[in-house]
Amino acid sequence: TPRTTILGIESSCDDTGAALVRVCADGRGEILSNVVSSQTELHRDFGGVVPEIAARAHVEKLDLSVEKAMSDAGLAPQDLAAIAVTAGPGLIGGLMAGVSFAKALAVAWDVPILGINHLAGHALTPRLTDAVSFPYLMLLVSGGHCQFLRVEGPTRFTRLGGTIDDAPGEAFDKIAKALALPQPGGPQVEAGARDGQATIPLPRPLLDRAGCDMSFSGLKTAVLRARDAALVDGALPRTVRADLCASFQAAVADILARKSQAALDMAGDVTAFAVAGGVAANGAIRAALSDLAQARNLPFVAPPLALCTDNAAMIAWAGIERFRLGQSDGPDLGARPRWPL
Ligand code: KG4
Ligand code: ZN
Repeated sequence: TPRTTILGIESSCDDTGAALVRVCADGRGEILSNVVSSQTELHRDFGGVVPEIAARAHVEKLDLSVEKAMSDAGLAPQDLAAIAVTAGPGLIGGLMAGVSFAKALAVAWDVPILGINHLAGHALTPRLTDAVSFPYLMLLVSGGHCQFLRVEGPTRFTRLGGTIDDAPGEAFDKIAKALALPQPGGPQVEAGARDGQATIPLPRPLLDRAGCDMSFSGLKTAVLRARDAALVDGALPRTVRADLCASFQAAVADILARKSQAALDMAGDVTAFAVAGGVAANGAIRAALSDLAQARNLPFVAPPLALCTDNAAMIAWAGIERFRLGQSDGPDLGARPRWPL
């Protein structure tokens, strides 16, 4: 029997993605192709993602991305078991572009379609890369999300806690902007932090509270205040900028690590501690979380960077997980801009 191969399509934010993934004999996924075209350049001058521009770019790039994913993998439509597409949560224009494109393709190629929750895509990535078994604890930390999930099955997630205000990636992006660094801010702040030291005192909100809820907006405000206080003739000295980056990054790593401990206490029996989402690409944050898992004798699973940020391989994989359970969606599949797990 041919091994299940699924085409994944992602267009929920500012990356258009198409990927082909199939199940390996050892239970993991084999990525046959993974095309991501980023819109960073298109949005750079606006200091954030402009939904209208994003939707247009997705419409323009979807067919070429799928074509490239198919030819990179050397596959034809008849090799596919199904098409999986991100149906939410995310920006409505991009989601609608992706879902309607995938539906048309599914009809033309006569294959079933699966609408995938983007967060489930991130949360199931440790099974794609490392065949991690259920249940495991997942810290999903990106530009739009920050939550602890107990992952119990392909469609079974228990939310243990999360941010009560901003997502850390959003804070990284805003701080980069405030420090006159380019977007997306995460990698820029991480690079800046390498030249600085975490010597500027910053608050760590909610650490004295039980549970694993987190808060990052007060931290962001404190960084802005420290920046204003350090201005010399209206300019920020380079060393202060680097120290602010380092201090902010250390505070985020600290909050995530301490709340991960609380989340592990709440999660009970788990097979691993895993992270995903764009912020999980941060080296200092990864190191803090990995130390913590090691101290608890738990395997720490962090997907390679390209699979931490938005991509279609994780959507294809989440599709495989549902397909193996005999699930698929009907022609009434629609975009769901709000779709909690
Ligand atoms: O998962 P993702 O690609 O998109 C969603 O938000 O769903 O995450 C993007 C976020 C951005 O806010 C970006 O600044 C942040 O992840 N990010 C980082 C790093 N690389 C990306 N944050 C901190 N350090 C990084 N190295
Ligand atoms: Zn994402």
